[in-house]
Amino acid sequence: MDQKILIVDYGSQYTQLIARKIRELKVFSIVCPYNKINLKYLKSVNPYGIILSGGPNSLLDKKSPKINKFIFNLNIPLLGICYGLQLICHLNGGKLKRSKTREYGHAKISIIKNSKLFTGYKKKNNQVWMSHGDSVDKIPVDFQITSISNNNIISSIENDNKKLYGLQFHPEVFHTINGKKIINNFLFKICRINNKFIIDDFLKNKINYLKRKLSNNKVICALSGGVDSTVTAYLLHKAIGNNLYCIFVDHGLLRKNESEEVSNSYKKKFKKNFYKINASKLFIKKLSKVSDPEKKRKIIGKTFIEVFEKESKRLKNINFLAQGTLYPDIIESIPYFGGPTAKIKSHHNVGGLPKKMNLKVIEPLKELFKDEVRILGKKLNISKSLLNRHPFPGPGLAIRIPGKINYHKIKLLQDVDEVFISYLKEKNIYYKIWQAFAILLPVKSVGVMGDQRTYKYCVSIRAVTSVDGMTADFYMFNKKDLSEISSRIINNIDGINRVLYDFTSKPPGTIEWE
Ligand code: XMP
Repeated sequence: MDQKILIVDYGSQYTQLIARKIRELKVFSIVCPYNKINLKYLKSVNPYGIILSGGPNSLLDKKSPKINKFIFNLNIPLLGICYGLQLICHLNGGKLKRSKTREYGHAKISIIKNSKLFTGYKKKNNQVWMSHGDSVDKIPVDFQITSISNNNIISSIENDNKKLYGLQFHPEVFHTINGKKIINNFLFKICRINNKFIIDDFLKNKINYLKRKLSNNKVICALSGGVDSTVTAYLLHKAIGNNLYCIFVDHGLLRKNESEEVSNSYKKKFKKNFYKINASKLFIKKLSKVSDPEKKRKIIGKTFIEVFEKESKRLKNINFLAQGTLYPDIIESIPYFGGPTAKIKSHHNVGGLPKKMNLKVIEPLKELFKDEVRILGKKLNISKSLLNRHPFPGPGLAIRIPGKINYHKIKLLQDVDEVFISYLKEKNIYYKIWQAFAILLPVKSVGVMGDQRTYKYCVSIRAVTSVDGMTADFYMFNKKDLSEISSRIINNIDGINRVLYDFTSKPPGTIEWE
């Protein structure tokens, strides 16, 4: 991973997408906020190329974020995207103008000068995606215009001698046809990357790294049954064997039979070093009087830490805590402008643990995206049922029962969820969907069954498609599936007489209800 691209973040909603597109081309990248960039940092990263991202600001405002001009004289290829292009222009003596209207959406560009960046591109009518207010009025000396949009806007510039390139449009988004070709050209024709990111190499190097870094230290890992913690543990086990200790805290809020299923596989793998703690009574007691979603999440997170800490104290001489942090988690946690982004929900994870327990953290998956973690898991021989299950939130079913929870409601929801998920598996729909589950509503409604009046709970089912859970679309079932799911739930689960379908996308909804 020594040949990497540095993405300098100016707060664009697409920054993560740039990283993702680069990885699809099997190249490694690092995202860093613009205000952390200095010569020392650059030397330590030693990038093969630099990308300046887009961002919400205008360089025509004095206080807009900038970058030290030394970045243009390092002889490292540099690509500015949208705001990044405008930075190149502004800081190299060009001029920007404020447009009366924002150019947003599809545009067509024509290439007016041959450029390595556009190798393989058509001359005319290339569809791209624009999202900008300001545009280039006068290009800097020694730069050339390489393309123009159909709205007569300068859509790309370059100084090929200094390896500086700028695009007004976004090559990273889906709507820019062949945008990946531009990124490909930048990486391989301009930055001359020749060492691709291969998962087998990653696995081999990571195991060697973990062996060196951890040597004879003992490591503890919290398992949840989810993909990230499972792959983390399997990888560590391969590197350090019996110096890995795994704890699975059962909070009683898992799906039907899940606790037994996952702990059986873990037991088989980690043998004596696997500990299952049944803490369901404690969790459910603490939650029994609480209906506020944030309070529920906080109680679950705090109780988890207490239980885990207590159990781990029984193990002596532990130095490291392993966490299944992924690359998107790292990108998302970069505070743009030093301030936290708007919090929608507190996520339950083991974030509070390392500080409390005085442990060093090891995050062996922090360079990977979710799909790569699944591929890695396959290489580590983790079973398909553990690897390919839909994501499941840390606070479990508690956040799928709006309002107060109790044993009866949990059992009801587990049963409904099982009927729903079994149907999806039976009809081979399960793997077309990113995540599917049921929500038990705090509402009873009147129904009729066999000439009898019923007054029972309503459930909602939810199924979404997504790439990373950041945005999502509701899954479009056909009528036959919806009616079959509804009748199977009502006919099999006593206590439910109405099934609703949640057809809300994210945004404006979130995937979970709480
Ligand atoms: P939302 O509801 O925020 O969910 O749209 C996005 C994805 O994150 C999962 N999720 C969580 N995962 N701990 C987790 O590990 C949590 O506290 C948590 N809350 C939501 C959710 O299931 C979906 O996949």
